[in-house]
Formats: sequence, C-alpha cells, structure tokens
Amino acid sequence: MKKYDFDNIADRKGTFCVKHDMTREVFGTDDLLPMWVADMDFKTPDFILEAITKRCSHEVLGYTFAPDSYKMAVLNWFQHRYGIATKWNRMHFIPGIVQGIAFALQTFTRPGDKVLITTPVYPPFINVPHRTGRVFVSSPLKTEEGRFTINFEDFERKAEGCKILILSNPHNPGGRVWTKEELSQVADICLRKRVLVISDEIHADLTFPAHRHTSFSTVSEAAEHNSITFFAPSKTFNMAGLASSVCYVPDEGIRRAFFGFLDNNELSLGNIFGYYAAEAAFAHGEEWLRQLLSYLQGNIDAAESYLRTHCPEVTFMRPEASFLLWMDFRLWNLPQKELARRLVFDAKIGLNNGTDFGPEGEGFMRMNIGTNRATVLEGLRRIASVRG
Ligand SMILES: Cc1ncc(COP(=O)(O)O)c(C=O)c1O
Repeated sequence: MKKYDFDNIADRKGTFCVKHDMTREVFGTDDLLPMWVADMDFKTPDFILEAITKRCSHEVLGYTFAPDSYKMAVLNWFQHRYGIATKWNRMHFIPGIVQGIAFALQTFTRPGDKVLITTPVYPPFINVPHRTGRVFVSSPLKTEEGRFTINFEDFERKAEGCKILILSNPHNPGGRVWTKEELSQVADICLRKRVLVISDEIHADLTFPAHRHTSFSTVSEAAEHNSITFFAPSKTFNMAGLASSVCYVPDEGIRRAFFGFLDNNELSLGNIFGYYAAEAAFAHGEEWLRQLLSYLQGNIDAAESYLRTHCPEVTFMRPEASFLLWMDFRLWNLPQKELARRLVFDAKIGLNNGTDFGPEGEGFMRMNIGTNRATVLEGLRRIASVRG
C-alpha cells in the first residue's frame, strides 16, 4: 500500500494562492507564516493530478457536461460514506458552496428576510446574508466541556420568523461533529418554525475516526423534506481552486425551486477539471484520506502537547473534524486589536481573527494546521515567543 508523505509539502509561494500570496493585502505584511485560510499545504493527491493531466492530453478544452462516470463516483461516495442511496436527479453541480448558499438565499428569501446562524461561525455565513440585504439572526453557541453545543432554548426562540438556517455540519471553526440527536432537534425546531435548513457539509469527510458524521437529511423525514445539503471534495483532497461542489435536495418542491433557479441562471454547466478531479478523488481517495486524517490527528496531538509545555494559558477546542484550531487567547487579556497586531507583527504568524466569526470570537484566533508538523510547531513557537 502506498504511503503518502505529508511531511513533504509543496512550496506554494508565487502560485497566486490566497494563503501565501495575499498576505500583504490581508495582514499588511508578507513577512509572516501563513496559517489562516482553510486549504492545506499538502500536495493534491497524485491520482487527482494524473486525472487532470490525462484530460489535458486531449487538445480541446471546450464546454463539457458531467460525465456519467463522475456521477457514479459521487453517488457511490454518498452511499458508502453518508448512507445516502440516491439518484443523480436529486443532485446538482454547484461551483462553490458559498455561492450555493448565496443562490439558496436568492431562491428562498428576499431582502429584509431573517436568516438564522449559530455563532461563532465561518464568516461568509454572516457576510453573505448581510451583504445581500438579509437580516442575520445569531444564536450563540455554548461551550460545554471544551466543545461547542447548541443552546436549543435560545435557538428555538431565535428561529421564530427566520426563513433559513445556515448550518456548518461539521462546524467551522469549532470542529464539532454534530450528533444525530443534536441534528434531530435542529430538524424538529426548524420544521415547526418553518425554517429551511441549509446544511453545509464541506468538512464532513474530514471527520476523525472517533466521531461519526451525520448528514443532515438522514436524521428524519422532517429533515429530508426541509433541507438542502452541500458537499464538496475541495477541502478533503486539497483542490479548492477547482469548482467541484454538489448539492443534494431530496424534497421535490424544494428541488424544483432551487434547481429551477440554478438552471434559469445558467449555473448548471461545471468545468472540465472539476469533474475529472472530483471523479478521481471519489473513486481513488479512501486510502489517501485515511492517511491524511491520521497525520492531522498527529498534528493536533503535537499542538496540544507543545502548548501544554510552552504556552499553557493558550488552549484550543480539540476538533472532531478538519484541520482548524479554535484557539483561546483570553488569558493574555489583550484587546482583540492588540492580540491580532502582536501575532502578526511580533510573532509573524497569520491566523484568522476570532471576531470575524462573530462577536463571541473576542479573544480567539483560528489556526490552520493543514500543513506539515514542522510548520505547525514553528507556528506555535512563534505564538509562545510573544507571551506577555
Ligand atoms: C464551512 C465552510 N463552508 C464553505 C467553505 C468554502 O467553500 P467553497 O470554497 O466551496 O465556497 C468553507 C471554507 O473554508 C467552509 O469552512
């Protein structure tokens, strides 16, 4: 069996990549270790690169529709990984999940309508509704035993009058893999309050073996008939630069409205490389993913151990999925602005600012450990070097 080498990362600088090449624009300096935006520094797996290269050996890159072999690979992955046995006519290509969420907002809400989110959360869940004239209503998550939980009393109250819930399942930035029981409660409340659920499952495949991802529509009939679910291979296989997402809409009425919007706006044709890459990922990716998760788990263990020894007042929520650490700097007792300044200009490390995820992010930062262990430890060393 091939052993993948995650210690040997690519030099991404100079490839117009957001993480390494947009640091001046985002942080005001290039002189930092970028551990922010959520893609990984690992090489995109060879079987994906080979599939794209092979397609390039044909001389024409014209309009291309979804190949049957691609659809089969997606459907098999769905059945095998999420227990969803379905047909392609319930799925649709989506250029990107954030765009998909924006399309759903366009389809099912109007400016002035209320959209429910649980904060802290991935910033576009706040920004897209806000910038398109919707009103976001936030139900802050609770922290219990070092992990986020939903405050269902507050959630139910806030759901009143909302049209849509945008749910990060699993959760970014906290790494929570919501349980079937939690999701059933969400489904029941949303059905009662007539809130359509958008379940963003982009991090699902990065769930660590001790946890089990539950796809939202599978928790109950209520959930199946009141949801749109988005998936993508982009985080899992480090191919976020390709448009390769899909949505799954089991309810006929919701599907007619949503797919109608997509088709009427000519959003149905994907791109060649997205199809070929996704097919290769789903057809050949199991073993690579297994080894990736094991490596990431090692990074999390190493980070925990490093901080415990060298900077014990800084802690993080142990993620149940994915490669993002929600780090708690509150014991440094600094205003957010000064915390951010100190990390960027003194420690020379680029993390995501906690307050971008909602006001509950005050005193927090998000660190991306989707890189090799040496870089993770170097990032932590830089953080520890500017302790007060
Ligand atoms: C929860 C979540 N949804 C969506 C995205 C981005 O998806 P896309 O690039 O397909 O728009 C991210 C990226 O970090 C994410 O964390």
